[in-house]
Amino acid sequence: METILAKGSIATVEADALAITLCEDEAAPKGLEFAQPWLDEMKACDEFAGKAGEVAVLYGPKGLKAKRLAVVGGGKRAAHDSEAQRRAAGTVVRSLKSKGVKSIAWVLGANCDTEAVAEGAIVGNYEPDHYKTSTKDPKTVERFEIIGGDAVGLARGILLAESQNFTRDLVNEPANMLPPAKLAERARAMAAEAGLECELLDQDRMRQLGMGSLLGVAQGSIEPPFLIVVRYRPEGTPTSKDHLGLVGKGVTFDTGGVSIKPAEHMDRMKSDMSGGAAVLGAMRAIARLKPSIPVTAFVPAVENMCSGTAQRPGDIVKSLDGKTIEVLNTDAEGRLILNDALTYAQRQGCTHLVDAATLTGAIVVALGYVNSGAFTNNDAMLARVMSAAKTEGEKMWHMPLEEDYKDLLKSQAADLANIGGRWGGAISAAWFLREFVGETPWVHLDIAGTAWLEEPKPYIAKGPSGVAVRTFVRLATSWVA
Ligand code: BES
Ligand code: ZN
Ligand code: ZN
Repeated sequence: METILAKGSIATVEADALAITLCEDEAAPKGLEFAQPWLDEMKACDEFAGKAGEVAVLYGPKGLKAKRLAVVGGGKRAAHDSEAQRRAAGTVVRSLKSKGVKSIAWVLGANCDTEAVAEGAIVGNYEPDHYKTSTKDPKTVERFEIIGGDAVGLARGILLAESQNFTRDLVNEPANMLPPAKLAERARAMAAEAGLECELLDQDRMRQLGMGSLLGVAQGSIEPPFLIVVRYRPEGTPTSKDHLGLVGKGVTFDTGGVSIKPAEHMDRMKSDMSGGAAVLGAMRAIARLKPSIPVTAFVPAVENMCSGTAQRPGDIVKSLDGKTIEVLNTDAEGRLILNDALTYAQRQGCTHLVDAATLTGAIVVALGYVNSGAFTNNDAMLARVMSAAKTEGEKMWHMPLEEDYKDLLKSQAADLANIGGRWGGAISAAWFLREFVGETPWVHLDIAGTAWLEEPKPYIAKGPSGVAVRTFVRLATSWVA
């Protein structure tokens, strides 16, 4: 979709639809006063009251060059923040494209944000249907222009939205199309295009280094594992010692291993690399926005299979940092690859760490599909991440991680067990990771409930959400040492 600043005005712009947001407590804006009786009538008929998610379309509006006037509800004006604007733009695009609309001219409201609108439109226009051939739905909006927008906001909005869609493309790939080697290839291609450094650690290299925990997960699959490392370095002499490490779980498919998962919904486990995909999508944008600190991404990419070579419950593996781990459940594999990646990130000089992982079903029990769970060993670091998330409209909830939970991971035979029993499963998983970060300021985001939309929303398709990309980018670009 071509997303541009409009040349024309409300009256003169040529488009299949002119679109505006109207909040519950608002009248038709200047230039569209003629629509007021029509709006009043719809309100009286209970068909459009300005609530979020509502769309009404008027055909052949008098005095406009545009063929339609589309009005989308914005909710309450006071609550019409940038996330509400993203959703309004996405809702218009999705609703109009289903009618065959190809071009939309969006009227930017007062105090509204070009970046959010552009993002919402581009994210909303995306469909995860690349593998449909003859039946491929041609319904997609080709041009989206913004009346009254600004060029800087537009450029950032396009970059962020396309980076989210890059992440969604990766998550959407089925596991046969995107085994670890292919994910590594996609990361390398992205890095080359964006001007980033990319290093791929293969199985031999990881064996030399001693990443026994990661390799234990990988050994059940015929697909070789990779540790993907992508580096962004700012130009000139650094102004501080801070170095941000972004770590993302990259399990390209999670069968559960020998502790196998039930068949129902197992297909969803192609999305078990959502954290890794988010980290890569963020690097794509970071490369162009050039923050002042170095940022390095680490994506341990493996396939968790059950086979004759797979690790067994009860096996003991040795992690890169030297701790021994008793693998009591092979389905708790995310933490077994992330620990080695977190250790490696620290050895590579990262002073601050954030990881994103579809780590536990337990976080979905706790927070549903709305919030990601945020865990930390450092309140100041958490504050940075939460503030970035808030600015970007990505919902995250601070979860507890007190010392009292630490005992859950006791093992009789090794330093640590990889599971912590039935209750508080998202917390014991987070504690497992915490054992490997020491005092390094770190935040863990459990995105198992937010990385994949089980149902479509008016503003976004069902499937991968691209969660965490915007937060990561905001965190890096707003960093103050
Ligand atoms: N990838 C899953 C977690 C998951 C569940 C992601 C649902 C997305 C949706 C993870 O590897 C896993 O299987 N975790 C286990 C841990 C348990 C064995 C301690 C879980 O949550 O059941
Ligand atoms: Zn698992
Ligand atoms: Zn998993």
